[in-house]
Amino acid sequence: MVPLLLVLHRSRFHLKQQQLQILGASLNGPLLIHQQSLFTLRHFCFTHNDFQGSPSDHSLSSSSPTHSVVRTVCALVCQSYYHQHTHFRSRPPKLNLSIDSELLSPEQAITVVASLASEAGSMVALSFFYWAIEYVKFRHFMRLYIVLAKSLIQNGNLEKAHELMQCMVKNFAEIGKLSEAVNMVIAMQSQGLFPSTWTFNCILRVATEMGLVELAESVFDEMCERGVCPDSFSFKLMIVGFCRMGRVSEVNRWLSSMLEGGFLVDNATCTLIISVLCEKRCENRALWLLNKMMEMGFTPNVINFTCLINGLCRRGSIKQAFEFLEEMVKKGWKPNVYTHTALIDGLCKKGWTEKAFRLFLKLVRSDAYKPNVHTYTAMITGYCKEEKLNRAEMLLTRMHEQELVPNANTYTMLIDGHCKVGNFNRAFELMDTMSKEGFTPNICTLNAIIDGLTKKGRAQEAYKLLKWGLKGGLYADGVTYTILISESCKQEDTRQALGFFNKMVKLGMTPDIYSYTTLIAAFCRQKRIKESERIFNDTVRIGLVPTRETYTSMICGYCRDGNASMAVKFFQRMSEQGCAPDSLTYGALISGLCKESKLDDARALYDTMMDKGLSPCEVTRLTIAYEYCKKDEPSTAMVVLDRLDKKLWIRTVNSLIRKLCSESEVDMAALFLHKLLDEDQNLDRVILEAFLTACYDNKKYALVSDMSERISKGIG
Ligand SMILES: *[C@@H]1O[C@H](CO)[C@@H](O)[C@H](O)[C@H]1NC(C)=O
Ligand SMILES: *[C@@H]1O[C@H](CO)[C@@H](O)[C@H](O)[C@H]1NC(C)=O
Ligand SMILES: *[C@@H]1O[C@H](CO)[C@@H](O)[C@H](O)[C@H]1NC(C)=O
Ligand SMILES: *[C@@H]1O[C@H](CO)[C@@H](O)[C@H](O)[C@H]1NC(C)=O
Repeated sequence: MVPLLLVLHRSRFHLKQQQLQILGASLNGPLLIHQQSLFTLRHFCFTHNDFQGSPSDHSLSSSSPTHSVVRTVCALVCQSYYHQHTHFRSRPPKLNLSIDSELLSPEQAITVVASLASEAGSMVALSFFYWAIEYVKFRHFMRLYIVLAKSLIQNGNLEKAHELMQCMVKNFAEIGKLSEAVNMVIAMQSQGLFPSTWTFNCILRVATEMGLVELAESVFDEMCERGVCPDSFSFKLMIVGFCRMGRVSEVNRWLSSMLEGGFLVDNATCTLIISVLCEKRCENRALWLLNKMMEMGFTPNVINFTCLINGLCRRGSIKQAFEFLEEMVKKGWKPNVYTHTALIDGLCKKGWTEKAFRLFLKLVRSDAYKPNVHTYTAMITGYCKEEKLNRAEMLLTRMHEQELVPNANTYTMLIDGHCKVGNFNRAFELMDTMSKEGFTPNICTLNAIIDGLTKKGRAQEAYKLLKWGLKGGLYADGVTYTILISESCKQEDTRQALGFFNKMVKLGMTPDIYSYTTLIAAFCRQKRIKESERIFNDTVRIGLVPTRETYTSMICGYCRDGNASMAVKFFQRMSEQGCAPDSLTYGALISGLCKESKLDDARALYDTMMDKGLSPCEVTRLTIAYEYCKKDEPSTAMVVLDRLDKKLWIRTVNSLIRKLCSESEVDMAALFLHKLLDEDQNLDRVILEAFLTACYDNKKYALVSDMSERISKGIG
């Protein structure tokens, strides 16, 4: 081994102090310099006009220190380059340069690359460049890239220039200057470097990976405008980018334009798209894509099918899910435990636990796949929802027998089930077991119990439990607050309800329309319609969609407040929003209109309601009939009641007679009683007694004898 210094001495080079400093550790390096490098070295150290081709502002007089630094670096680069390799290579070698980067300014680096490119060739310049960009001060120095690119173009190395541009894009994206780099790539056109599909794809990749999909889209447009054809990769990058962000409509749009462009979607991309579509509940589109892919010869596997089946089940499209199961089996794939769990869960969510259980048993009996914790949990949840707790408990026992460890979710579901039927002892027992097995009850567990307790009128216990949980480090979530708001409203404590509500908002949780409706209904019950109106306005302002219950509460509130015209306004608003009123809504409004003696309007609503096949409740039926009687129009009342089926008709007429008797309208009561006897021979004794009493009280003895005669003829 000959140290560099010796070589230099032998070549009779004279290095200045600074040059020696830059050489630094090279002195210790293994340096055998062959003929070519010796030539280059001499060239750089002794040629005085060696900066031809470099930018003029970097041409310095040979005596300046910059010049000598540049010369030394160039010499070292050549020496290291030729030392490392003599053969042809497509990639520049990694240089073993021991130059102190601190002593080289970015401007000097530019001079180095320019002179290396023109004197020693593109590869040598590139190898120095790749060494330099390991240092931040060179890496993010735009002009270094531009000068090198220009030199490469001059040397005719267009491919390397493209590579360089891609490198620039990546490195500038790192520091948030992607757009700047993209602009530069496009500007390089004036230097004769026309961006290729390859370079644009690189930009698209970098942009989409950073989530800058809008930028990617504009680059894509730019690409097309410049006549550079996007290829399947360009489309794929856009699709994958939007998939990552879960932006389904854009995924769809790009997928369509990709297919329209005649490009094929590869199966990895397809899988990604399908799983995103399923996740975002766009199963129809996923199905469409899968079918399309199958047409094109793509063979989905078990995982792909399961992903889709799971998506369909979650949406409640059980039939479609089973169709896909069939398709899957036809294709020779055996559904696995995950496929089955998805189906069982879907069936249970629909309330078809028996079907789910048959599938579950099939799994138990199969040799290949045994139900796992998730399968058991799905089945247990299904049974709990149907209040079949014995069966749920049986499954828990089976789990233990199978040495499957239930998880926190399994316990929580079971606890929820027991709370719903009011079996709190078992719920608490399960909570203990759960803790013993190492699962701390979470806020969902607590919510289940609190909800159960409040619904059974044991609010104080619920509050105590909640306090205990919060002390133990749990945080109330949106569900907890919703329960608390409901409970406060039930107790007509609107102040407390509002307190919870505001706290929830303060904590950054968004109360759902259910909570808003609960509050609105509570204020309506208290005849504080202004407050309800304010809350209603809030829900609309924050973009929540009022439900039928919300509108119905408002309508009830206005009717209670004797403001039927506002109630009608809300009723109309409801229809305009595409929200269909139910019998409760109609009932509330009909009663409200009756109270203000707007009988024609009430009658019209009543008829619409009946036309729609909605059954009016007892109060509605009675109110409208009674109001007509009060207006001395018993015949209209009869016409109104005639629309009811026989059972309801009898019930309503009975109630009406009783009400008329209590209001001393005995003549009218007699009219209806005769009508009732025409229809129904089994007259209720209580009604008859009430009628007779009312006749005596009002001294209508003739009515008594009439009725007695008819009854002795008819019924015994
Ligand atoms: C993915 O597509 C290729 C080409 O169409 C095909 O050969 C391969 O089998 C596919 N992979 C799977 C798992 O379907
Ligand atoms: C779906 O199929 C592809 C290839 O066909 C495979 O690479 C992928 O892992 C499968 N499943 C999912 C969930 O991606
Ligand atoms: C609610 O909004 C309506 C119009 O959108 C307005 O007329 C009404 O005064 C508002 N009510 C309250 C209580 O703010
Ligand atoms: C009905 O309510 C509206 C809005 O709250 C109010 O402007 C109007 O005065 C009320 N009408 C009656 C009769 O109370």
